[in-house]
Amino acid sequence: MSTPRTPASTPRTPDADWWRDAVVYQVYPRSFADADGDGLGDVEGITSRVPYLASLGVDAVWLSPFFPSPLADGGYDVADYRAVDPRLGTLDDFDAFLHAAHEHDLRVIVDIVPNHTSSAHPWFEAALAAAPGSPERARYVFRDGAGASGELPPSDWVSNFGGSAWTRVPDGQWYLHLFAPEQPDLDWSNPEVRSDFEETLRFWSDRGVDGFRVDVAHGLAKDLSTPYRPSNEHALPLDGSDPLYDRDEVHEIFEGWRRVLDEYDPPRAAVAEAWAPAPRRVLYARPTELGQAFNFDLLEAPFDAEVFRTIISRNTAAADESGASSTWVLSNHDVVRHATRYGLPEGTDTDAWLMTDGTEPALDRERGLRRARAATLLLLALPGSTYVYQGEELGLHEAPAIPHDELQDPKWDRTGHTVKGRDGCRVPIPWTPSGPSFGFGPVAPHLPQPEDFGASSVEAEDGDPGSTLTLYRAALAARARLQRGEELTWVDAETAPASASVVAFDRHDGWRCVMNFGTGPVPLPAGRVLLASGPLGDGELPGETTVWVAPVG
Ligand code: GLC
Repeated sequence: MSTPRTPASTPRTPDADWWRDAVVYQVYPRSFADADGDGLGDVEGITSRVPYLASLGVDAVWLSPFFPSPLADGGYDVADYRAVDPRLGTLDDFDAFLHAAHEHDLRVIVDIVPNHTSSAHPWFEAALAAAPGSPERARYVFRDGAGASGELPPSDWVSNFGGSAWTRVPDGQWYLHLFAPEQPDLDWSNPEVRSDFEETLRFWSDRGVDGFRVDVAHGLAKDLSTPYRPSNEHALPLDGSDPLYDRDEVHEIFEGWRRVLDEYDPPRAAVAEAWAPAPRRVLYARPTELGQAFNFDLLEAPFDAEVFRTIISRNTAAADESGASSTWVLSNHDVVRHATRYGLPEGTDTDAWLMTDGTEPALDRERGLRRARAATLLLLALPGSTYVYQGEELGLHEAPAIPHDELQDPKWDRTGHTVKGRDGCRVPIPWTPSGPSFGFGPVAPHLPQPEDFGASSVEAEDGDPGSTLTLYRAALAARARLQRGEELTWVDAETAPASASVVAFDRHDGWRCVMNFGTGPVPLPAGRVLLASGPLGDGELPGETTVWVAPVG
């Protein structure tokens, strides 16, 4: 066996299993902190906020893409996988960030986007310049069209952002893009594609990054044989038979990645973004593959005790069986913020709500935040790892009224202006109560912030005992003391407040989490209150509130 590689930057406390119960904070780099004053967040800005990230008590930071990109899809269209976008900084800036993070005992995860490159990637430019059938085209999925003269796309596959998943090039061939046309899909049956990505993993691992988030991990293996079968991304079959997503062959790719990640000491961690059915999602998280896969079940769930209980049971059992650790997520850069989702009437179509600039149906902001705080406290008591999205620690709501001409999400144009997309959760976060961008930077930010953002700024919430920031800090500090092992024991109706709207479980040593999903109060569980997501009544746990208790003594 070869000697493990020694990276340039290492965390102060080496620990191969750090990721198993880590709280990971997601930074969306262009909207976090703007140090150079161009309205766009940058790497130096993130470095300047490392002390803040450390003060939260999270274990790791995941950076969404910061690589050179024409920004057709918020940076998920990568033109060079081994560089920093010049608008965001340099590789030296990245190394300085990594060093600062490690000095603060924060691990760093970077985003790898293997399903597609940007159309500005040198490979795609070479593919366009080359002839049909050339090796340059064979890195992507170029095909002749259907119809008498190839004038129709090769299949009826649709792009995730709307419209056909095929675009025609001047010589008449078509190329596949599961996302925007500026994101051509790579052909992962091509060995050159495989070896190039393994080099990218080594490039960042050599610098000292601690792990990778793998974008659209379930999309890499495709059945491209003709006749093409229809794909049904939203109800994927359990037998891996969809032509585009979650096919069995994909796992061999990640076994190869695991071999690369294990060349390092400690081995690099990885988490798959795989929108696959729960029983198949865990396959990506096997120890021989990536180790973790995002579990989006709670993110997609209604605010309902029974649904939460079922999801938690299912996922903790799956983690036990597979040897992976569970992951828990309520928000990220792709979905309406959870404080907002929970403040809208049950079943609201959030795309339609955004089209009304957030006016119809009415958002109950206070209720949404109360529920969000309760849900977060429940998540942080679960075994496994939790992912937190920037701004949720401030209790931020979605920004639903971005003017149409300032929208950046490709969904807006690709759907003929019927779906606004994801910009409302990507608005730069507020650091100060006032200023041209609420402390994000010295000038107006690249996406406009709502006027009320200042009240939720870090400065406004810092030290306020009732603020969401204070709650997150207290919860993360308590979790750091309490969290160990994977054990979770449901508390039944005899010992917990007996109500269908309550979810209650014990961890070890009597650490108990009780969440009241209902609107009315239930009896407060016995024990010493460690933390609560909102004010408690006298002997009562109010509705939409979570409490952590420990045995007296
Ligand atoms: C993932 C990302 C999303 C991006 C898409 C295409 O789902 O989270 O933001 O648009 O992949 O790369």
